[in-house]
Amino acid sequence: MPRPIRARIDLAALRNNHAVARRHAGHARIWSVVKADAYGHGLLRTVRALEGVADGFALVELEGALALRQAGVRQPILLLEGCYAPDELPLLAEHGLIPVLHRPEQVAWLSCVALPVPLPVYLKLNTGMNRLGFEAAELRAALAALQRIEGVGDITLMTHFSDADEERGIAEQMASLAAMRRDLPYPLCLANSAALLRFPEAIGDWVRPGIMLYGSSPFPQHSAAALGLAPVMTLESELIAVRELAAGDRVGYGGTYVAPAPMRIGVVACGYGDGYPRHAPSGTPVLVDGRRTVSVGRVSMDKLCIDLSGLPAAGAGSPVVLWGRGLSADEVAAAAGTISYELFCALAPRVPVVEEDLGQG
Ligand SMILES: Cc1ncc(COP(=O)(O)O)c(C=O)c1O
Repeated sequence: MPRPIRARIDLAALRNNHAVARRHAGHARIWSVVKADAYGHGLLRTVRALEGVADGFALVELEGALALRQAGVRQPILLLEGCYAPDELPLLAEHGLIPVLHRPEQVAWLSCVALPVPLPVYLKLNTGMNRLGFEAAELRAALAALQRIEGVGDITLMTHFSDADEERGIAEQMASLAAMRRDLPYPLCLANSAALLRFPEAIGDWVRPGIMLYGSSPFPQHSAAALGLAPVMTLESELIAVRELAAGDRVGYGGTYVAPAPMRIGVVACGYGDGYPRHAPSGTPVLVDGRRTVSVGRVSMDKLCIDLSGLPAAGAGSPVVLWGRGLSADEVAAAAGTISYELFCALAPRVPVVEEDLGQG
């Protein structure tokens, strides 16, 4: 018997979520964001599941992009951090990979290399995130330089929002973008999931949803289900032991949980070595036999403990859901003081993955 932990990846749910993005995007085309191994869901399986409906795929890893081309994926591919050295540019042109240019040196690199075919480029503008992107004062010079370079194809302007999911919203960044752009005629690519769902004015020509495709909500105050999104990843395992505690018994490393009264606990084969967050405190929600309970004590590498009070039928072998179908990853992440993006990306290589096609898609 293998260890009972596994991650189920529901490909129909992925397509359902892409259809939700499509409804919000209207006429804009959709870059499906698949960086970080498709947010931990598996790059190739995610791309294959979306191939029939996606307009293009966006990621940061050149090796991932090349692996997609090697696997025969023909849709446009956008490299969100562009390239890191000039000698990558011919490879990009050869494989039809579109770089995001975010600093003047990257434009200069383009003028030093001979490209086999014209290379479309995205020009990223810093409108307030202050991470990557050209400043207003650099933009005209960059465009003038790009227009002089023979190997440069179509230009698209892009920016990224820092607060599309927060109260602050995108108004200041949109104003900054308008001031930078003025009458420039280039297409626009602006919206992440939160902006796509919340700000129709930010839709532009291309959108870049990530987290919503995987069935999570970008907003703390709106559940994924209320947005029509279905969970793609379900992390599940089983109870491998149960134990009766007396009042005052301590649980796990450091004894951070002390039984307030006699109680039964279960031990789940899942720990931080599987990607479950070690910092999830006692009280983090868990499903056993489809019923909700909570974790108790510190998460260890291979195990975590849960409260079985009120669940007398639960025993060794009972199925446990850590997040996914029936228990939103957003809720688990919030209890652990993080976001579902981090939970998904942390899924450990030792967890076997089972592909399914069960969602609403
Ligand atoms: C440049 C860029 N665009 C789009 C996205 C997708 O964002 P989200 O997953 O919040 O939809 C990301 C993700 O961090 C990003 O870095």
